[in-house]
Amino acid sequence: MRLGSLQLAHPYCLSPLAGYTNLPFRLVIREIGGVGLCTTDLVNARSLLEGNPKACLLTQTCPADSPLAVQLFGNSPEYMRDAAVLLESQGVASVDVNMGCPVPKVCKTGGGSAMMADAAAAARIVGGMVAAVKIPVTCKMRLGWDDENITAPDLARALADVGAAAIFVHGRTREQGFGGRVNLGGIRAVVEAVPRTPVIGNGDITTPDAAKVMLERTGCAGLGIGRGALYNPWIFRHIAHFLHTGETSPEPSFEERALVMSRHLGLMVDVFGEKSGCCMFRKIGPWYARRLGPSHEFNRRITRLETRAQFDEIIAWYREWRKQFLDERGELQPRFCSPQPVASFLLDQDATADGTRPVPVPKGPVTYW
Ligand SMILES: Cc1cc2nc3c(=O)[nH]c(=O)nc-3n(C[C@H](O)[C@H](O)[C@H](O)COP(=O)(O)O)c2cc1C
Repeated sequence: MRLGSLQLAHPYCLSPLAGYTNLPFRLVIREIGGVGLCTTDLVNARSLLEGNPKACLLTQTCPADSPLAVQLFGNSPEYMRDAAVLLESQGVASVDVNMGCPVPKVCKTGGGSAMMADAAAAARIVGGMVAAVKIPVTCKMRLGWDDENITAPDLARALADVGAAAIFVHGRTREQGFGGRVNLGGIRAVVEAVPRTPVIGNGDITTPDAAKVMLERTGCAGLGIGRGALYNPWIFRHIAHFLHTGETSPEPSFEERALVMSRHLGLMVDVFGEKSGCCMFRKIGPWYARRLGPSHEFNRRITRLETRAQFDEIIAWYREWRKQFLDERGELQPRFCSPQPVASFLLDQDATADGTRPVPVPKGPVTYW
């Protein structure tokens, strides 16, 4: 997939998850493989220009973290343009504009999903950015404000007309939050509205099967994956393998997951320091544990994590404790595996009707996106 001048090795992109898609997580995802582009959490354009330390930390990167898109939000054409210029000068591969964030603080300034309601204003901002930089400028949106106001196709057309290099679209409305179904027909309408611009379909992709269905039913050029990557950092590699060969990859073993978890924590400690890194990892560890079998006590210990050494002790304890749930080959007995979340668009009826679970929504600074 090509975003303007940027050729991606894979058409699978890490979707921004504020509070999660920081440098350590992106590096872990990249080291596992299969991902074509990673995006930062959303960053306030004005704060970035003013050198606000928190905003600058969100854009912290390193050579291995490439290609990187930084997601900006804001309603001022000047700030958005200047922030894009600044990011280009720092070597960022592309800039994404947030048009999907439903958080009141962002919307009331005319940014985030408020932009979906005013295509002309959004196009002015994006057009100004495109004219000022050589790197691709992309846009990320929901389908619209609510079912009565599906604005994404018209908005995408207006943005493609001013040079947006790609459109990322989460197939839900703002009103839906994370409930209900991802509307694949809605994403397809965006694909049809901008035939010369790649559209990246997003929402609920947690398995290679779901990825295939999203691509086939929408005609989208690429995939954006957020919560699915938190739930399973191997997802990009598994999707790439499945779509290339038709074969399903084996599940990573406990030891492989423990190794990646340890690497993730190590990177968090390197980037944020031991105290903050461990504190931030308290909400990450339980996501890994979702695939490890019974994990209540593991989670209780992880949510009190203070040092790197403590993590090694917790893993050593957990390795022994969970043996009671394994079969003679050392595999987790099926009755102790928790049901995997299933994409809403793969279900016939209510997501919970047949024992399957909807894709969980992480806790964070925002309640829903
Ligand atoms: C905790 C959380 C934080 C998010 N932060 C952002 C963000 O900063 N910018 C953005 O455009 N979308 C954000 N999103 C939306 C995701 O990028 C994505 O569109 C949405 O989660 C649907 O995709 P998924 O089902 O693959 O997670 C966030 C979602 C969650 C759950």
